Amino acid sequence: MSTTKRKLALIGANGMLASAIRKLAPSEYLIQTYDLPDFDLTSRQQVLALRHSAPDIILNCAAFTNVDGCEEQRELAMRVNGGGPGLLAELANNIDAVLVHISTDFVFDGKKGRPYLEEDQPRPLSVYGKSKLEGERQILQSGLKKYFIVRTSWLYGAGGNNFVETIIRLATERKELSIVTDQLGTPTYTSDLATAIFQLLAVPPNTLPLTPYGIYHYSNEGECSWFDFATEIVVQLRTWQGVKVEHLIPIPTEGYPLPAERPKYSVMSKDKIRLAANLVIPAWQESLKAYFKQRNSKEDFS
Ligand SMILES: NC(=O)c1ccc[n+]([C@@H]2O[C@H](COP(=O)([O-])OP(=O)(O)OC[C@H]3O[C@@H](n4cnc5c(N)ncnc54)[C@H](OP(=O)(O)O)[C@@H]3O)[C@@H](O)[C@H]2O)c1
Repeated sequence: MSTTKRKLALIGANGMLASAIRKLAPSEYLIQTYDLPDFDLTSRQQVLALRHSAPDIILNCAAFTNVDGCEEQRELAMRVNGGGPGLLAELANNIDAVLVHISTDFVFDGKKGRPYLEEDQPRPLSVYGKSKLEGERQILQSGLKKYFIVRTSWLYGAGGNNFVETIIRLATERKELSIVTDQLGTPTYTSDLATAIFQLLAVPPNTLPLTPYGIYHYSNEGECSWFDFATEIVVQLRTWQGVKVEHLIPIPTEGYPLPAERPKYSVMSKDKIRLAANLVIPAWQESLKAYFKQRNSKEDFS
């Protein structure tokens, strides 16, 4: 007996998170891919034309993700990260599709000192954070009912530039690495986030007291500084290959000045998504092990 597949329009399909989505999509999904240069999220005409492929779900992984680059290109950041999700919400409303949009811990200012809840007041410090918050706002104000906004943090995985790959490269090139120790957050492995998104999409709309739609936080479990994260990356890397690095030096944020201000503490509570989607969330150290395994396996790593 044949069942109808759920059509999922994957926006930003060539990016890092999207690569995990394509790899881990359950067989009931038919993935339709959209990315630059053929598809531009800032074009209202191109976005609304997606109605012709009649997706049941629109999953937005596209963004202007260069946090420091956003400081210089504020207008582009606002159009892609702010206006883009608004256009997708309009499309979703037109065709009665579910919109899944990915947002960030950088919507918070990092001053809370305890894990952020979904209802905590966002107060972004950077243009990137402001533009991502604008994307959330445009979805919320569109009147769309069937949406998931999933905020995540410190993302790494196959198919993209990320902190883990940077540390791996530097650890094989240099004897000393200086890493910021006064910013705390939680790393997130793209495969875990992709799995969580599909589990969230599998929640029947009428099983929870209210609808399952809304804002969710997802990262791996635990918290660490960039210094702790780099230390663990080097420890695990040593089990796979030789490294040149001998010393990791903890430094304050001021010791590594960047254009965009980052939150000092951006750990998020995952209680809401854990309950709603019945998730077991791996500790960040365990997920890093899984990433190294994926990286060193024969399977496609792109
Ligand atoms: N990376 C992190 O640490 C992190 C942390 C928290 C939240 N997030 C969020 O997680 C999501 C996925 O991040 P990621 O790291 O997987 O992103 P990514 O690897 O940078 O991928 C983003 C994709 O979107 C495409 N894109 C950019 N502008 C576009 C446009 N105007 N129209 C269509 N496509 C466009 C990019 O194409 P080009 O490469 O050609 O520009 C790229 O293929 C984003 O919403 C991001 O804000 C990321």
